[in-house]
Amino acid sequence: MTTDEISKNKDQEQYEIDTLTNDRLIKDHEYDGIKELDNDLPPWWKWLFYISIAFGIIYLVRLWVFQSEDLYQVQEYQKDMEEAASIVTKPAADFEIKVLDDPASLANGKDTYDKICQVCHLIDGGGLVGPNFTDNYWIHGNTMEDMYQIVTDGVIEKGMIPYKDQLSPTQRLEVLSYIIKDLHGTTPANPKAPQGEELEWPY
Ligand code: HEC
Repeated sequence: MTTDEISKNKDQEQYEIDTLTNDRLIKDHEYDGIKELDNDLPPWWKWLFYISIAFGIIYLVRLWVFQSEDLYQVQEYQKDMEEAASIVTKPAADFEIKVLDDPASLANGKDTYDKICQVCHLIDGGGLVGPNFTDNYWIHGNTMEDMYQIVTDGVIEKGMIPYKDQLSPTQRLEVLSYIIKDLHGTTPANPKAPQGEELEWPY
């Protein structure tokens, strides 16, 4: 017997052909008269199977052999959390609350002042609804840090608006630098009476 004949014989042992439909039935798989077919799997199913095997191998090699990504979700999660924490706690890396004295920053500061602040503090800083910026009397302190806090958070109950949403941190520094460098110490046309405490000028 050739190998072909052997396998044919084996086939005949295992299968029987349904005379009506020509389907291959497995001989010993009969349950209460229901016989099991032995059809080939549909090609789309087989390909799905092969593709998922290939995907699995590539996935394993990338992760375990080349370690091109974090192996565990926990590590990914921790990385994301660290990144988020550094965004929340750290302002822009080079940002520092300080007086800017370059002409470009002062010019930007003047623009902002003339557009927004002069309504209450007057164009020459003499004060109107808001206090006079040219004298040495200050309600909330006279350092850049003090003023930055006021411009950022405002003093709503007294009529000073918070500008944290309207002006970027740099714009706030610029406008305050303009007040500190250019307006303070000048003589306004109609200075408002002093408000607050007299303080030594730090700049
Ligand atoms: C709607 C009116 C108004 C506008 C607009 C306004 N301010 Fe004021 N500002 C005030 C008032 C009123 C006060 C006094 C707050 C108080 O009595 O506590 C004040 C106080 C301040 C102080 C603290 C002064 C001190 O004596 O301690 C600073 C600094 C200041 N404003 C900066 C600005 C800047 C910069 C702008 C523009 C971006 C601006 N303000 C726009 C009304 C205004």
